Amino acid sequence: MSDIISYIEEHGQDFEQELFELLRIPSISTSSDHKDDIQEAADFLVERLEELDLDKVEKIQTDGHPVVYAEYMPHPDRPTVLVYGHYDVQPPDPLEEWETPPFEPTIRDGRIFARGSADDKGQVYTHLKSLQAFRETGTEFPVNIKFVLEGEEEIGSPHLAPFLKEHKEKLETDMVLVSDTAMFAEDTPSITYGLRGLVYMEFELVGPNRDLHSGVFGGAVDNPANVLCEMIAQLRDDDGQIQIPGFYDKVRDITPEEREAYRKLPFDEEEYKKELDIKALNGEEGYTTLERSSARPSLDVNGLWSGYQGEGAKTVLPAKAGAKVSMRLVPDQDPNEIADLFRKHVENLAPDTVSIEVTEHHGGFPAMTDPDFYGLKAAAEAYEDVYGKEPLFKREGGSIPIIAEFKKILDAESILMGFSLESSKIHSPNENFLQKDFHRAIKTSAKFFEVLHKYKE
Ligand code: BES
Ligand code: ZN
Repeated sequence: MSDIISYIEEHGQDFEQELFELLRIPSISTSSDHKDDIQEAADFLVERLEELDLDKVEKIQTDGHPVVYAEYMPHPDRPTVLVYGHYDVQPPDPLEEWETPPFEPTIRDGRIFARGSADDKGQVYTHLKSLQAFRETGTEFPVNIKFVLEGEEEIGSPHLAPFLKEHKEKLETDMVLVSDTAMFAEDTPSITYGLRGLVYMEFELVGPNRDLHSGVFGGAVDNPANVLCEMIAQLRDDDGQIQIPGFYDKVRDITPEEREAYRKLPFDEEEYKKELDIKALNGEEGYTTLERSSARPSLDVNGLWSGYQGEGAKTVLPAKAGAKVSMRLVPDQDPNEIADLFRKHVENLAPDTVSIEVTEHHGGFPAMTDPDFYGLKAAAEAYEDVYGKEPLFKREGGSIPIIAEFKKILDAESILMGFSLESSKIHSPNENFLQKDFHRAIKTSAKFFEVLHKYKE
């Protein structure tokens, strides 16, 4: 193992430069203008994997963006790890808030700034480099490895579940390894065992057949913008409970043991508020901030539109108003069922004065890893070896829609071994990845591969 660690230390600079090349490619999955960039990012990964002399490296087209697939299977009698990650990124806007341009990776204060540095290019790349360290030092790779790197995670992975079904035999694995989550705090390695699911809905209200003069018609004709606000206000009550009938029916309660474990996490609520520049927090009555943001469901307006947005004032009664609303789900909520409940509920809430159209965007099931799964023990040993500390176990509020499908389709548990931080600002301007965590992640990955087979039951 010392050869491997020395190799990683000696080549750290080169690894950063390679990552920078990948970060320069604006592989924004949601925008059709970036189709070529998506292909370029996939090609870049294919080339880097081809250099590792594996059994197979392929770029597999889907009905959407391609999947980069690779495999190296030296040990028929040892476990197989499927490394999953994504090479697509979120749009970088608002651009003016970036201190340096999003697709010109820059190091400042020991952090690599670029869109995708933490979510997820910088994190997923660490597994390619740890494998490289084994290959280049002539060290036998201790387990079997497959890679599934996708270009549609940030748009809800619409083509990946069909891909898993179609290639079920080829993708057979004992576990999935994912580095696309965060650590609890700096120098605090963390294994995430739960992720929330997601339902993303949109609805639009249409009132009169045109925008009206608000003096001539106001008070007599219902205003879709007013109606929208009244409807949204009814989606939660004063205790922060979501008011969609049936919404909580399948919510699994947090166990007393889990609540105790939550209480022991080193969380500072004052710091949390300070970092966000807010005076007070708000959420579901009876739950702590950490529970609310990871183990309880939530409902948020993600976008709103109606009426006049330009400079100054325009007296108008707008003809239309709309909203995008996302709900984060916890086990055992089903995104399809929740989408139906939401649709029915807002259709019921809408008065006769407007018509309503509801659309469903992407979604995904919540996911939980079996806490006794042997792979977690190997991950914990790897973290402890590199960070000098036992990792914390925690749930997170974000979603990785394919994780639940890995369990359903491939019957594989996922190990969420994340390295980003809350201060990594994923999806926000100035996204960054702590430089030292990029290097520690490569070592943690190598250590994980080294010790894994010892734990196999
Ligand atoms: N890496 C995140 C997921 C994440 C973030 C997990 C923070 C845990 C903590 C992932 O890239 C992401 O942003 N997922 C989307 C999924 C959606 C677009 C379907 C999300 O959570 O909004
Ligand atoms: Zn993301």
